[in-house]
Amino acid sequence: MKAIVHTKYGPPEVAHLMEVNRPIAKDNEVLVKVYATTVNRTDSGFRSAEYFISRFWSGLLRPKHPILGCEFAGVIEEIGKDVKTFKKGDRVFGYNDKTFGGHGEYLTIAESDAITILPGNLTFDEAAPITEGAHYALNNIRASHIKSGQHALVYGATGAIGSAAVQLLNYFGSKVTAVCNTKNVVLVKSLGADTVVDYQTQDFTKTENKFQFIFDAVGKSSFKQCKPLLTEKGIYISTELGKNAENLFFALTTPVLGGKKVLFPIPTIHKEDVIFLKELVGKGKYKPVIDRHYKLNQIVEAYKYVESGQKTGNVVIKIVD
Ligand SMILES: NC(=O)c1ccc[n+]([C@@H]2O[C@H](COP(=O)([O-])OP(=O)(O)OC[C@H]3O[C@@H](n4cnc5c(N)ncnc54)[C@H](OP(=O)(O)O)[C@@H]3O)[C@@H](O)[C@H]2O)c1
Repeated sequence: MKAIVHTKYGPPEVAHLMEVNRPIAKDNEVLVKVYATTVNRTDSGFRSAEYFISRFWSGLLRPKHPILGCEFAGVIEEIGKDVKTFKKGDRVFGYNDKTFGGHGEYLTIAESDAITILPGNLTFDEAAPITEGAHYALNNIRASHIKSGQHALVYGATGAIGSAAVQLLNYFGSKVTAVCNTKNVVLVKSLGADTVVDYQTQDFTKTENKFQFIFDAVGKSSFKQCKPLLTEKGIYISTELGKNAENLFFALTTPVLGGKKVLFPIPTIHKEDVIFLKELVGKGKYKPVIDRHYKLNQIVEAYKYVESGQKTGNVVIKIVD
C-alpha cells in the first residue's frame, strides 16, 4: 500500500510517499481502508519532535510509528476474530494517537479504541477532521467545569481547537466571546460566538466582561495578560506551555494558592468521546471547519501550511477520490 513514512524526526521533508506492507489486524482489531485523513498539529508535533518530551511517547531516538495520521475516515475491510461491534463494509471514522496510520491507505485499530460509525450521510472528507481539535477542546472545557450561562473567552477561535471550542461551549450553554482575525469574524459568529473581538482592530484585554473560563486555543496569550479578565475563581488554560514553560509552573502553583487558576490538563480520548462528537455532528451542533484539501503526495506542502500557524480549522488529505 502507499503511505507517508518518516524514519527520523525533522522538518516536513522527512515525510516521504512510499510503498509499504499493509498492516494486519490482530484478533481485537479492525483493518480500515482509509479514504480521508488530516494533517494537524498533533502529526506535526510528533514528526518534528520539536518538544523533546514527545519522544517519550513516540520513540527516543527515532519514530516508533513511522506512518503518522491520527485522524481517519474510511471503510472496514477486515475484522479480527474477536471483533463483535463492527463488520466488513462499515463506514467509520476515529482517532488513533497510539499507533497512528491515517497517512496510509490502510490502518489497524482496536475495536475498543476511539472509532465509531460515520454519522448520517457525511462524506469521508467531512468526517476525518471531527476528532483532533474537538477532543482537545472537550478535555479543556471539561477541566474548566464551566457551567451553562457562565462566560467563556476563546482566544484563537479559528484553529482546529478554537473553532471546535466555540461550538462546544455554545452547545454547553456558555456565553462565548471569541477572538479572531478580521477575515474570520463572520465565520466565528456562525460557529455560535455571542461576541466576536477582532484582534486586528481591538485589544481583547480591554473588554469590560469578566470570564469564568479563558481558553487560549493557539497559545499566544499569557496568564498575566488574561488574569484581569478572569472572575475571582476563573480558570485560564492554554494549548501551549508558554514562555519558559510558565503555564506548567502556574498549573502546579495557582491551584494551591486559591483564586484565579491555570490548569494544564493532559488530553485523553475514548470511544465515548468520539460517539459524543458524532452525536453532536448528527444534531448539527458541531461541524469541523475545513480550510483546504490536499492529496497524499502533497503531504510536505500540507505540513508546511499547517505549520504556518495560519490554517483556518482543518486540513484534509484525500486518499481515495
Ligand atoms: N504539540 C502537539 O502535539 C499539539 C497538538 C495539537 C495542538 N497543539 C497546539 O495547539 C495550538 C492550536 O492548534 P490548532 O491546530 O487548533 O490551531 P492552528 O490551526 O495551528 O491555529 C491557527 C489559527 O490561529 C490563529 N492565530 C494565529 N496567530 C494568532 C494570534 N496571534 N492571535 C489569535 N489567533 C491567531 C490563526 O487565525 P488568524 O488567521 O485569524 O490569525 C489560525 O486560524 C497550536 O499552538 C498547536 O501547536 C499542539
